Amino acid sequence: MIQCPRGTRDFLPDEMEKRRCYENILRGVAHTFGFREIETPIFEEAELFILRSGPNVLKELYNFKDKGDRELALRPEMTAPAIRLFVNNMSNEPKPIKIFYFGQCFRYERPQSGRYREFFQFGAEVIGSATPETDAEIIAMAASMIKALGLKDYKMRIGHIGVLRQKIADAGVPKERTAEVLQKLDKKMYDEARPLLESMDVASDVIDDIFKFTETVGDTSVLEEVPGEAGDYLRQVVRYLSAMGVDNVEIDLGVVRGLDYYTGMVFEAEAPALGAEKQICGGGSYTLSELFGGEKVFSTGFAVGFDRILLAMEKEGIVYQRKGIDAYVLLVTDDVRLKAFEIVSKLRAAGISADADIMGRKMAKSLKFASTVCARYAVIVGAKELEEDSVTLRDMHTGEQKAVKLEDLADTIKG
Ligand code: HAM
Repeated sequence: MIQCPRGTRDFLPDEMEKRRCYENILRGVAHTFGFREIETPIFEEAELFILRSGPNVLKELYNFKDKGDRELALRPEMTAPAIRLFVNNMSNEPKPIKIFYFGQCFRYERPQSGRYREFFQFGAEVIGSATPETDAEIIAMAASMIKALGLKDYKMRIGHIGVLRQKIADAGVPKERTAEVLQKLDKKMYDEARPLLESMDVASDVIDDIFKFTETVGDTSVLEEVPGEAGDYLRQVVRYLSAMGVDNVEIDLGVVRGLDYYTGMVFEAEAPALGAEKQICGGGSYTLSELFGGEKVFSTGFAVGFDRILLAMEKEGIVYQRKGIDAYVLLVTDDVRLKAFEIVSKLRAAGISADADIMGRKMAKSLKFASTVCARYAVIVGAKELEEDSVTLRDMHTGEQKAVKLEDLADTIKG
């Protein structure tokens, strides 16, 4: 039997109904923040992602040559595609441009709980603005999304990659090796970061200072220790967040982010219940458009790891109630079968989700099946009732039954 490829999943109807419901909640939040949806291709020129993150990114890409010998890659994330879309199609539009997207991404990773090779992101970008308000809007929207889904146990950490980048540059680390150092610091692999920095002739006390900086964590008062413009900037972001009612944030100057295009504010949200793969959302400010042939434009964005946030909700005991259908039409005797289909199609035309037996089941079995499909009502069609232009409407929760005229059926069900 052929299974789905490693690191991918099938989604059955129950799971899919839940996912669509939560996806639409996120869409709703994005709309309330004034964002509009875009969609980009699932595969892109591999060059797009190489320009963004350097050739090393190929290791984590699903890349391939097509029949025209073009080097393509399945998208590992959607910020680079979104900015490409902006450069190609929207660069002359009034700023800021607020866009969001939802879709699958692909990374050639070692699969484990919460880490897949095909996963889904819900993300957003504000393009063309580099103010503390912009960053605050993005963080506030991420927080609103988590809140709208009902997740309680999570932590939001905000940092600033600019200060750390500056410190690393001041320490004499060559620009092209910054990413290597940041990757170690991102994972708090100090044992490996130290010899790496030493190999670049960084003095031991300077290394200590860098490490200490990445360990600066706490409430917003730790911002007192953050020097210069970056500190002032983050203080303003926090002030706007507070005005928007987003107070449960922590400052963590060790937030580095795995992707190396960020330049300023960076943030992450994590759900501790998820263990190793606990990061449910991440983002920050960056410039990418100039790499893709456009003018340099400042942007800020984030993406929610949709699969992970759903896992975290499950761990927290948030249960999705299957909606089911409004009505299941069943027959007392087979001679009313045609009439049953006339009734079911009228209900559907009235916007009611309705189904009818297509398996030739007897009434008792049909009633059981109506429960299986979580029908709210059973519409029981019998020859005797039809003589009076009526059917019997059974409330599947209470078991109550009443005769309803055919002309009133749709309104009664809707009511
Ligand atoms: P990222 O942190 O690489 O950022 O991914 C965002 C989220 O996607 C993560 O926080 C995580 O929840 C989820 N995620 C990542 N890899 C996997 C995986 N293999 N399986 C399941 N979930 C995963 C970005 O992708 C940036 N584009 C975010 C951004 C938007 N920055 C600015 N704008």
